[in-house]
Amino acid sequence: MKKVNVGLVGFGTVGKGVVKTLLSKKKILEERSGVSVNLARIADKDLRSRKGVRVPKRLLTKDVNSVIKDRNIDIIVELIGGIHPAKEIILKSLALGKHVVTANKALLAEHGKEIFTAASRFRSHLGFEASVGGGIPIIDVLRRDLVSNKIDLIYGILNGTSNFILSKMSEENCTFREALSEAKTKGIAEKNPRLDISGVDSCHKLAILALLGFGLSVKPKDIHVEGIDRIDAMDIQYAKKWGYAVKLLAIAKKAGKELDLRVHPTLIYLRKILASVKDENNAIFVRGDMVGATLFYGRGAGSFPAASSVVGDIIEIAKRIDDFKKPKSAFKMEFDSGVRKVRKINDLSTRYYMRFSAIDRPGVLSSVSSILAQNKISIATVTQKERKKGQSVPIVMLTHEANEGKMNRALKKIDKLPFITKKTVKIRIER
Ligand code: HSE
Repeated sequence: MKKVNVGLVGFGTVGKGVVKTLLSKKKILEERSGVSVNLARIADKDLRSRKGVRVPKRLLTKDVNSVIKDRNIDIIVELIGGIHPAKEIILKSLALGKHVVTANKALLAEHGKEIFTAASRFRSHLGFEASVGGGIPIIDVLRRDLVSNKIDLIYGILNGTSNFILSKMSEENCTFREALSEAKTKGIAEKNPRLDISGVDSCHKLAILALLGFGLSVKPKDIHVEGIDRIDAMDIQYAKKWGYAVKLLAIAKKAGKELDLRVHPTLIYLRKILASVKDENNAIFVRGDMVGATLFYGRGAGSFPAASSVVGDIIEIAKRIDDFKKPKSAFKMEFDSGVRKVRKINDLSTRYYMRFSAIDRPGVLSSVSSILAQNKISIATVTQKERKKGQSVPIVMLTHEANEGKMNRALKKIDKLPFITKKTVKIRIER
C-alpha cells in the first residue's frame, strides 16, 4: 500500500483532533482510501500542548523547520492559525514541493492570492476545507461539485460563537455578557473572542467563499463588517414579536456586475431555515443556476468537526499525490463570473429595524419621522414602551426598503437631536 508521510505544525485544539483521528481511524482510512497515512512529525512551540494525547515522543519537536525540510514528508498540515509565522511556514513548504493542508481562514483571506499562486507554481495542492464552516463540507463543494454553476447568492451563519450568543439571548432572554460568559465556560468561545463577536472571523470566511463562488479576490477590509456586540436582548425580543430572528449573517450576493459583500447582525423571518440554526452550529446557503438552492449545515467549530475536514483533505491529497504533481493540475482560483467589484455599502437597498433611545416628550416621533421622510425612508411599523418618568424609552421601528446611504444620513441627524440619548441601533432585514 502506498505510504504518505504527514508533518503536523500546531498541536492545539484542532491539531489534537487530527492526531487522534489519524491514529484511531488508521485502519478504516486505509481501507477506504487505499493509502496509508503516516503521522511522521509534530511540531509545536510548546510541547506541553500534547497533554491528553498519547504520541511517541520521537515524533515531537519544537523545531518547525526540521519538519518542513524533512525530505520524507509529503504533506504539511498547518494548524497554528494567525498570519505569522503561518504564512512563512506554508510558503516555505510549498516551495519545497510539499502539499499543504490548513484551517487558517485569516491567512487565506488576507494573503490567499500569494499562497494560491505559490501552490500553483510549485504544483502543490492546498487543502483548506476546515477554513470555513469547520466540519461542514463547503470548500470542495464550491470548487468541485458546483463547478458548472453560475452562483448568484451565498449567505450564512459562519461563526459558531456569535450564533451561540444570539441563540442564548433569544431563548433565555439573557444579556450579551451572560451569553458570552456561558460560551466561554462551555469552551465554545476562544479565550479572546474578539474576532468572533466583532464579525471579523465571519468576514475572513466570507472572503474565501467570495473567491470560490464568484472568482473575485477581495481583501477583508473591502467587506463591510459589523459584529453582535451592540445587540441588546431587547432587540431580539422585539424582532421575535414581529416574526424575526436575529442572526449574524455573512452575505455574498450578485448585484449586476457588483458583489454585495457584508457581515452584520440581520433580522430574518423565523420561518426561514437559517432562523432555526441554533447554538454553535453554522449553515451556508448556496444558490446556483443548475443546482438551485442548497444548504450546508453542521458544527462550524470544535476539535473533531475541524479535524474531520483536515483529515478529508489529507486523504484526498494522499490518494492523488502523483496527479497533483503533473502540470496544469492546479485549480485556478480567480475566474470571470461577471462580477467586477464589491458594491459600496451605501448603495445597498434593504429594509431596516431601528431602535431609538429617546426621552418621551411631545414631538419626538414627529421629528424622527420627518427626518426619515426627508431621506425617503418609509416606516412600516412602530412601537414605543410605556414611559418611565425622566428615563429614555426605546422607540422601535421597521422600515420599508430604503437606501443605506440615505439611512445613514438620516441617523446621523437623528442621533444629534437633543432628546435622543444613545446611538440608534440599526439592524438590516433580509428576506
Ligand atoms: N471561532 C470560530 C467560531 C471557529 O466560533 O465559529 C473557528 O473558525
